Order: sequence, then C-alpha cells, then structure tokens
Amino acid sequence: MTTNQNPPTYTGDIAEQHIDPAREYSAENQEINFSAEQHAIWADLYTGVHQPYLLEHICQEFKDGLALMELDPQQMPTVAHLNARITPRTGWRIERTAVRYTLADDWYKKFAQRIFLITDYLRSRDQIEFTPEPDMFHDIFGHLPYLTMEFYARIEDKFAPAYLKATPDEKEVIKRLAWYSTEFGLVVQDHRFKIFGAGIISGRAELANTVMEFYRLSRDMVIDYSGNVFEQLNEQFLAHRDDVHRIIDGVNGLHQRGQMSSQDQGWNVVHSLYETLGIAREGYFGGEVILAPFDLETIARIPKTVYAFNPMFFVCESFEQMDALLDSYLKPITLRN
Ligand SMILES: [Fe+2]
Repeated sequence: MTTNQNPPTYTGDIAEQHIDPAREYSAENQEINFSAEQHAIWADLYTGVHQPYLLEHICQEFKDGLALMELDPQQMPTVAHLNARITPRTGWRIERTAVRYTLADDWYKKFAQRIFLITDYLRSRDQIEFTPEPDMFHDIFGHLPYLTMEFYARIEDKFAPAYLKATPDEKEVIKRLAWYSTEFGLVVQDHRFKIFGAGIISGRAELANTVMEFYRLSRDMVIDYSGNVFEQLNEQFLAHRDDVHRIIDGVNGLHQRGQMSSQDQGWNVVHSLYETLGIAREGYFGGEVILAPFDLETIARIPKTVYAFNPMFFVCESFEQMDALLDSYLKPITLRN
C-alpha cells in the first residue's frame, strides 16, 4: 500500500510508469486495508464536492451515476463494490494498479478490454485542494459514476481502438482529445455550462475556478444565460481565436520551462503571460480560465498536457456533439487496416 508520508516533489512532469506484472495487484487480491486517515481524507474530499452550490454546476449524468454507485461518503469503497455497481450496467471492469500514473500505451491496452485502472494512491491532506496527479478520489469519484452509463462507455470505447492504430503524432492528439473531454470537458445543459470532466469534478481548486468563471462571464456581460450560451461562446471564441492560440503557445512555452509546476506558480505565470502578450484581462479573457468550444484544431495545438494548471476548458453543445466531434477524428483511424 502506498503511504503518503513523503509525497514526491512535483516538478511539472509526472513520470509515466510501466505496468510491472511482478509488482501488480493480482486478480484475487485487489483490496486495500485503508487507514483511518485515508478514510478521513476521502470523507473530506467527498463532502467538499458534494455541496448543492457545486453540484448544480455538474452535469446531470454525473449525479445520476453517483447515485447508482452508492458510494459511502465516509469510507473508501472496495473494488468489489465498484464492480458490483458498474459491470452489470456497462460491462466495464475496474482493476487496481500499483502504478501512480500509467503510461498511455498500457492504459489504452486495458481500455480496449473495457478495463478501467484505478491507482492505489490517495493524495495527502495538504493536497486536498489540488493534486496534479490522478489519485483514488479522482479515479473513483470523478470517473466511475459515469461508467455506470452507456453513453459514457460509448465515449470511452472510442479512444482505445483508435489509439492502438494511431501514428505517434496522432496518439498525442488522441490523448489531448481524451484529456479535454473526459477529464476537463464541459457540456451545455439547461442553457448553462455544466461540468463533465472528472479532472474538474475531483479537483476542488479547478472546480471552484470553473464555477467562478461561469458567474464572471455573466457579470462581465460576456455571456447572457437567457440566450443561446453555446452560440455566444462560439462567437466570442471566433472573435478571439488568434489570441487564444497565442496564449496556448505561451503556456506551452512556460510549461516546457517548468514554470507551470504548481498551481500558485501556474496562475501567476499565466497572468504575467497575458501582460507579455499584450492581451487585456477583460471581457472574454477576464477570468482565471478560458472557456472555448470543443475545437479539434485548437485542442490539437496543445502539444503538451499542462498537468499542474489547466488554463483552458472546452465545451460541447451536447453529448451528441461530443460523440460526433470525437468520431470525426477517431473513426477514420479506427477503420484503418
Ligand atoms: Fe482521469
């Protein structure tokens, strides 16, 4: 079992690890005896997100799936419990891994078999607000409610068959598409932006930042929620597309220089990036994060995932649109001989 006494220093890149069968959990031995402190951290994380003022900004499917999962807010669940809730509904299976951040190739090989890996690592108490690494709370609370649902299984089913046939360049794009849909994606529901991605849901700092941006867009009269919000977002994005791309290129540069390695640093260096680029932080660019429509070209432009701080989130008009946009890139690769 992983202990959290000395969390590794995070330097901007998470070392991707290969699955080592010799060190892995066996099929029969998937369970962990969690400590009281780990259950307490789970309980704090769970109640931190499970608040009406946050849940109202999360998509309906997450809330429906969370109810089906019957998670105990006070106790970390067993793998047996997770599989009992998920496998009969969608055929997906949960497997525990000792790897803290699985290499994409290993990850997608499991994905192709409808196996969703969950790590055995849980963030420490000083990382309650933010952890750059996906931990058990992220995997279980953020992703698994969706795996009770066919629409999500269908979205997740798209990635592995394409990834396994993709060229190295295409693999990078596929990772970004997964990142900005299932991890950091949003959808429009009930004429509002709603959070979909597990990375936002399980990260209290990112969740709060995103929700604040919803309110700011209205306060600064960028988006009028009584109108068509997706159309307005699209208009804003198209009007500012070149600057959005300059910001992305700038953030990529910062990341490569190791300046996006903590959330404090990330936010501060992005603020000064706006200044350097001469982009006024007002109107569409007035928030801590940028919302943009799920534009494949813009997403593909992000060559390196910025783990410590996500300055941009992408919005789909609906899950049907997300389906169609992902298919437009992934299907031709999947169908290749
Ligand atoms: Fe994730």
